[in-house]
Amino acid sequence: MKILFIGDIVGEPGRRAVKILLPKLRERHALDFVIANGENSAGGSGITPKIAEELFSSGVDVITTGDHLWDQKEVAELLANEKRFLRPLNYPADVPGRGGGIFGIPNSKLKIAVLNAQGRTFMPPLENPFLLAPDEVKRLRQQTKIIFVDFHAEATSEKIAFARMLDGQVSAVVGTHTHVQTADEQIFPGGTAYLSDAGFTGPHESVLGREIEPVLKKFLTGMPQRFEVAKNRVLLQGAVLEIEDASGNAIKIQRVSELLTTQAS
Ligand SMILES: [Fe+2]
Ligand SMILES: [Fe+2]
Repeated sequence: MKILFIGDIVGEPGRRAVKILLPKLRERHALDFVIANGENSAGGSGITPKIAEELFSSGVDVITTGDHLWDQKEVAELLANEKRFLRPLNYPADVPGRGGGIFGIPNSKLKIAVLNAQGRTFMPPLENPFLLAPDEVKRLRQQTKIIFVDFHAEATSEKIAFARMLDGQVSAVVGTHTHVQTADEQIFPGGTAYLSDAGFTGPHESVLGREIEPVLKKFLTGMPQRFEVAKNRVLLQGAVLEIEDASGNAIKIQRVSELLTTQAS
């Protein structure tokens, strides 16, 4: 089966890229399932039920998140009611929402598990994902061997170590959060595909999706600035994964960085 994972969708330009480019990618790669990180999809900060609905109707099957989860208060509704919406697994147990889920593949008897976890190095403090993820993977593997993991983290060492820990137990670990796509895609000996960071979907004539000037001014002066979402050179970034259905092992991982050339209709 073939899966597309879309790196952090940033604001309206990112959502437009998904809406326009996803149908083309779906056809070109014969995709069976699409997962997207939506933590920056509402004006660059967080996500709302309306925006989640927009992403689902653009063809996204499951939305993952990260440290920007709480930026919009309406997220509470998604955490409470939306099964296709995941938050990092490693919050304390009584926090609403969930980190892992099992989903049916459209037009197929197969199931896919999606797991979202967050790193702790240079990140807000959460429970230890290295201690929590193995049990969650065990739970998910009772229902399917096809397991995709979005590990939302800053440090490449933490990402690689986390993925190495899960090698042979999940189909893929793809990192998010840095917004910079890495060129280290590979398949580990146990059959787990890996990429340190998927990149981001949105305007790349920017600093990680935001207008350049205010970010530069903050670095120059240390004064707080309003970081507006930038506009130009919009890319959809992520990775296409080919998974062997029976074993759940990855066969192929290919980076995606697709330029949006058409305007919104
Ligand atoms: Fe992000
Ligand atoms: Fe993040």
